[in-house]
Amino acid sequence: MLRDQTALCRRLVLFAFCFVSGLITVAADSPYRFFDWTVTYGDIYPLGVRQQGILINGQFPGPDIYSVTNDNLVINVHNNLAEPFLLSWNGVQMRKNSFQDGVYGTNCPIPPGKNFTYIFQVKDQIGSFFYFPSLAFHKAAGGFGGIRILSRPLIPVPFPEPSGDFTVLIGDWYKTKHSVLKAVLDSGRRLMFPDGILINGRGPNGASFTVEKGKTYRFRISNVGLEHSLNFRIQGHQLKLVEVEGTHTVQTTYSSIDVHVGQSYSVLVTMDQPARDYYFAVSTRFTSKVLTSTAVLHYSNSARPVSGPIPSGPTTDINWSINQARTIRTNLTASGPRPNPQGSYHYGQINVTRTIKLVSSAAIIKRKQRYGVNGVSFIPAVDGTPLKVADYFGIPGIFRVGSIPDSPTGRGLVLDTAVMGSDYRGFIEIVFENRENIVQSWHLDGYNFWVVGMDGGKWSPASRKEYNLVDAVSRCTTQVYPNSWTAIYISLDNVGMWNLRTEFWARQYLGQQFYLRVFTPIKSPRDEYPMPANALLCGRAAH
Ligand SMILES: *[C@@H]1O[C@H](CO)[C@@H](O)[C@H](O)[C@H]1NC(C)=O
Ligand SMILES: *[C@@H]1O[C@H](CO)[C@@H](O)[C@H](O)[C@H]1NC(C)=O
Ligand SMILES: *[C@@H]1O[C@H](CO)[C@@H](O)[C@H](O)[C@H]1NC(C)=O
Ligand SMILES: *[C@@H]1O[C@H](CO)[C@@H](O)[C@H](O)[C@H]1NC(C)=O
Repeated sequence: MLRDQTALCRRLVLFAFCFVSGLITVAADSPYRFFDWTVTYGDIYPLGVRQQGILINGQFPGPDIYSVTNDNLVINVHNNLAEPFLLSWNGVQMRKNSFQDGVYGTNCPIPPGKNFTYIFQVKDQIGSFFYFPSLAFHKAAGGFGGIRILSRPLIPVPFPEPSGDFTVLIGDWYKTKHSVLKAVLDSGRRLMFPDGILINGRGPNGASFTVEKGKTYRFRISNVGLEHSLNFRIQGHQLKLVEVEGTHTVQTTYSSIDVHVGQSYSVLVTMDQPARDYYFAVSTRFTSKVLTSTAVLHYSNSARPVSGPIPSGPTTDINWSINQARTIRTNLTASGPRPNPQGSYHYGQINVTRTIKLVSSAAIIKRKQRYGVNGVSFIPAVDGTPLKVADYFGIPGIFRVGSIPDSPTGRGLVLDTAVMGSDYRGFIEIVFENRENIVQSWHLDGYNFWVVGMDGGKWSPASRKEYNLVDAVSRCTTQVYPNSWTAIYISLDNVGMWNLRTEFWARQYLGQQFYLRVFTPIKSPRDEYPMPANALLCGRAAH
């Protein structure tokens, strides 16, 4: 085994990683899965008109990643676009390994015509996630795909093995080329309303899922879109929720589910209806104009195509959605990635070491639309040096820890390379306060967090009385309803430089994000892996 490992390491010329994995036996014993991906532009026609898409190995959406808890993934990404490119891995925690996170703050972009091999372990994780291109406005052109992390064979899963397992990537979509959308944002204007919704890269009734009557299937639904919350439903069928971003949930049955941008849900659906075809329906939530799209659920012995009215979505009353969100809870007796029950970690009994309150804002700066958090609109360092790389080499002048405050200050929006410091092993509470009339969606890389509470109005310390300190869901992306708040708890057990961002992509692009630097002065691979030997260098790290 060790010799194989060494040979493999030689072949990959990844000495630093192998050095580390040699120290950590779990990593060394876990299987490796290799992926060789070529990223190109190609013509796609999701809404009937030709547009430029980002393809991975010729596919749109990109291929799914299948993996098992603790697998080591080796993904060689060849960038054949004419511009720098990075992929990021939404929900994969990259334990001790923010150098693989694939966002501006952690990685130098892969230059056109070059490649970079991501190497990371899906350590102690299960569940449904997705990958996406993180730079420029590439996400509007594709380049995304599903990630599933299955339980190891001997770990119990709290439901029978489904007869099939489908990835369902849903998202709002523009017919406009991504570079034009980017130019609109760069010129300081806002984007128009999207043109449609895609289901697995297809427009109305383009995607089809073939099933057999009487059987039960798993559908892993991720909202890979740019802005809108979407409602998902299947004509004549119930959805039994079983997993949210790596947590096995209390199995509740719904007739439809709200999936906010950046979120992932797994449902089980039993094919208990007469054999024919049924609509999958997906529509925008809380928008004055409602976009709806459909796919086809095809019973293998179906004699009839889809027919009848497309099932309509739930009421647009926000309370419906808040109430649904509150019913999404952790099944405390189910196993997660390990055999012990998910409820064995009593997050509700740990003392919070710090409270951070995050409030978004928007402003025109130098005649351009910008968005921010706590009065700071994020901009990359002038020479593009990634924050993590600057930190590693001790390059001064790239960022300042503390360049974003812990709570809103009330002053106007300023541009800065916002980095918030925090201590390894801290246990923090973050309160997102939404003072706008849109649904917000926030994501943190490197972590899952407990969504302990959400409610209308303003948060106050008294709001803590209504926190769920027993079976809140642990996930990586949470919604914040209009004129409402959401509170989360995070156990800071993963050293690194982690992006905290809105999933509303135009706003993310225009500064509504920052980095949480989880720091320890001890330099040890027990806490954080060294920079990988193949890391690309750029900006001031290139000299
Ligand atoms: C680029 O790909 C080649 C194989 O095609 C591989 O040997 C090399 O390590 C890769 N480069 C990086 C930086 O990962
Ligand atoms: C929770 O998980 C247990 C253990 O697998 C399972 O038996 C039970 O049915 C689940 N309960 C709910 C309400 O989902
Ligand atoms: C929604 O819930 C809030 C708080 O419980 C309540 O004040 C409000 O009237 C509800 N809205 C509707 C439309 O029922
Ligand atoms: C939490 O804080 C309380 C009050 O300060 C203290 O009594 C208790 O021991 C602390 N609990 C833990 C687990 O540290």
